[in-house]
Amino acid sequence: MARPILVANWKNHPGSLAEAKALLRQLSRDQSIYKKLSFFIAPPLPYFEATSLRLGSFVRLASQDIFSLPDGTYTGQVTPDILKSFGVQLAIIGHSECRALGETSEEVSRKVKVALRAGIVPLVCVGELSRDQDGEHFEFLREELKLSLSGFNRKADALKLALAYEPVWAIGKRAQDAIAPSDLSQSIIFIKKVLTDLFGRAIAERIPILYGGSVEPSNAPILLNETGIRGFLVGHASLSAKSFKVIAEALISK
Ligand code: PGA
Repeated sequence: MARPILVANWKNHPGSLAEAKALLRQLSRDQSIYKKLSFFIAPPLPYFEATSLRLGSFVRLASQDIFSLPDGTYTGQVTPDILKSFGVQLAIIGHSECRALGETSEEVSRKVKVALRAGIVPLVCVGELSRDQDGEHFEFLREELKLSLSGFNRKADALKLALAYEPVWAIGKRAQDAIAPSDLSQSIIFIKKVLTDLFGRAIAERIPILYGGSVEPSNAPILLNETGIRGFLVGHASLSAKSFKVIAEALISK
């Protein structure tokens, strides 16, 4: 069985390089725990070097996005090749905060291809904006998944994908406002069904699905209880070494 996956999405935090280094130092004290996981940190770009110095010991480097236009000159952009040269192994793609700034699922699918070409694992984020009694959010999810993963169906490529189910309404809240485990397992079953329609059952079963959205120490264990997820994508709780360690331990003892 593959190791559980834990991804720290630092977003635009911490506020300074000194704080980022301090957080990395604190995390490295618990490296024996993180070594039991496939553990990634996605820091802001200016903190890449500080993070990459610790690569190979207990953490792998991830990016929060990937640039998808073809060869050319682009002021202000960082190409997949540069990410790769820093040791980036995974890219978060289609995060709802990027989608909220105008990123479309078509763009997401282009980014997925670019990441695969660069040898970077695309962690594709999908999730409904709201949940309703009639289950209409499932249709939203189906469309988002199909469009975000359009344009390739090669078995070899599909097997390099990872997904993060992040219901938008559950992001950035407290644990008590996150998704209920029963709703989470329903969504995961549904996502697996869509993946099966796209790639066939054998491949769908092997694509890891993470959950993200207000994962905190108090709800991490119940979110892992028979919900079918293979890891977490963690935002705010990844900025506290103490909280994050508890989440990592929950994953290990799953
Ligand atoms: P959160 O963020 O854990 O703060 O809800 C998760 C994410 O946006 O990836």
